[in-house]
Amino acid sequence: MQDHFTVNTPGTHELVAGLVNDPYIHPERGNATLDRVREILEIVCDDERAAKLFAECRRAAGEELDTHLPLDDAAGLRAAATLSAGLDDEERCAAAVMLEESELSTDEVIEVHRRYKIPVSHLEDDLLPVRGCGALIRDSRGREYVDLDANYSATNLGNANEAIARGLYNQASLLISQKEDRIGVARARFLREIMPMMPGNLHHFYWQNSGGEAVDKSLKIAKAFTGERGVIAFSGGFHGRTHGAVAVTYNRAYREPFGLHEEDWVHFVDWGDLEAVESLLAEGRARSVILELVQGEEAGIRPATPDFARGLREVCDKHQAVMIVDEVQTGFARVAGGEGDWFASQRYDVVPDIITIGKSFGGGYPVTAVVTKPEISQRMRGGYDGSTFGGNPMAMTAALIATRQMRALDLPRRVVERAEQFKEGLTKLSDKHKVIGELRTVGLMIGIDLDSPERVADVQRRMQTHGAHSSLSTGASLRWLPPLVITSEQVESVLAAFDAALGESLSA
Ligand SMILES: Cc1ncc(COP(=O)(O)O)c(C=O)c1O
Repeated sequence: MQDHFTVNTPGTHELVAGLVNDPYIHPERGNATLDRVREILEIVCDDERAAKLFAECRRAAGEELDTHLPLDDAAGLRAAATLSAGLDDEERCAAAVMLEESELSTDEVIEVHRRYKIPVSHLEDDLLPVRGCGALIRDSRGREYVDLDANYSATNLGNANEAIARGLYNQASLLISQKEDRIGVARARFLREIMPMMPGNLHHFYWQNSGGEAVDKSLKIAKAFTGERGVIAFSGGFHGRTHGAVAVTYNRAYREPFGLHEEDWVHFVDWGDLEAVESLLAEGRARSVILELVQGEEAGIRPATPDFARGLREVCDKHQAVMIVDEVQTGFARVAGGEGDWFASQRYDVVPDIITIGKSFGGGYPVTAVVTKPEISQRMRGGYDGSTFGGNPMAMTAALIATRQMRALDLPRRVVERAEQFKEGLTKLSDKHKVIGELRTVGLMIGIDLDSPERVADVQRRMQTHGAHSSLSTGASLRWLPPLVITSEQVESVLAAFDAALGESLSA
């Protein structure tokens, strides 16, 4: 390589590494495509220079090469020499960083998704995230945003994590996978760490890989305990997309295509209607209740009242019914209101019989669990359930490191401080912009009503141009779930972006 390049030219080494991959160091990637080179040139240079340099690069690599295909090593080296000579130090460094982040162009990534992904949901292709740092997300075009989604609350500790990366590397090098039934060192480490965070005597774990699975398994465990099929769920509730989780999710459009709108074991009750719950329990039509203490996805952030939460606990006790609190989203300090509020149940001061946890449990790595009391878990018998990946060594390593970090960072305290700041800022903005309706903030679960779903989409689009990215909404409500490590300055920049976006939207 030294034949081709002047050593010590800033960015050159990285530029070469980005174009010609070393498969030992980066087994996860390949050589760059010329389409990516063109995209990057159009970002780092003006149009004229970008076109000229790309033509030179193409000539050097070989005119006949397909711009969509990865360059071979020799062509990549020739392209790198041309690029290195044509770019100034700053441009070269910027190009090298972008190549490190992706060797494929944004359009190429979008194209394979469009071609091969089953369209189960709307494809979000407004930006391609390639790097994270705390609450920031950087996209494939080198733009940075404060993230208001935290991947549905899965990246509470931030969008990249060096300690988890190292832990996963170490664990994968030693032992990558073991089934749920097998005892494991990583799991023992994790269990020692997590116990002080758990509400009451919720100490027995059954690990899964997604929140939906954890909800499904929580229903099985509750049914095995009560010996009865009936389950009460609530209007506005959302519990995931697996079969059982969909059955107890309120939105009929999610259930009907799969024939899950007529399940005779599910009884939906209006959110907050304690009397209806008690009647169903008293009539013996149900012995389990599932709820989110702060309804998120489907309800646009609707907290239970403290009376309702306590009342549910009381009626469940009275009728020996199992209270399942789905903490997949609310868990791990997301809705903290004070010290030690790791779960919504602690904020509400109720101890459920079962909780489901997930999302940021593994700091962004997929790991979830059902957690219950010994007297309930003991009703499960060998053969009642099983999981290939549940509680595997990688998942437990991520959960262990994430748990340690959450405690070291004292996330509940941070959430209380940032939540106050958001609340104050948003209240001021609602005085200024009359289009803001009700504000609902519980910890860092934030719901903001605007005047229409179209306004929500427009404001989200405009906020993006001001460096804040929000993609979550429910009807005419924005839902913000920023990483819990968001800084005070970042909160201010989000509020400024919201202010500017609203101003532009209303005057458009
Ligand atoms: C409350 C709640 N439960 C369950 C789930 C499902 O989790 P997953 O998408 O990991 O299956 C979600 C996901 O948004 C959720 O918010």
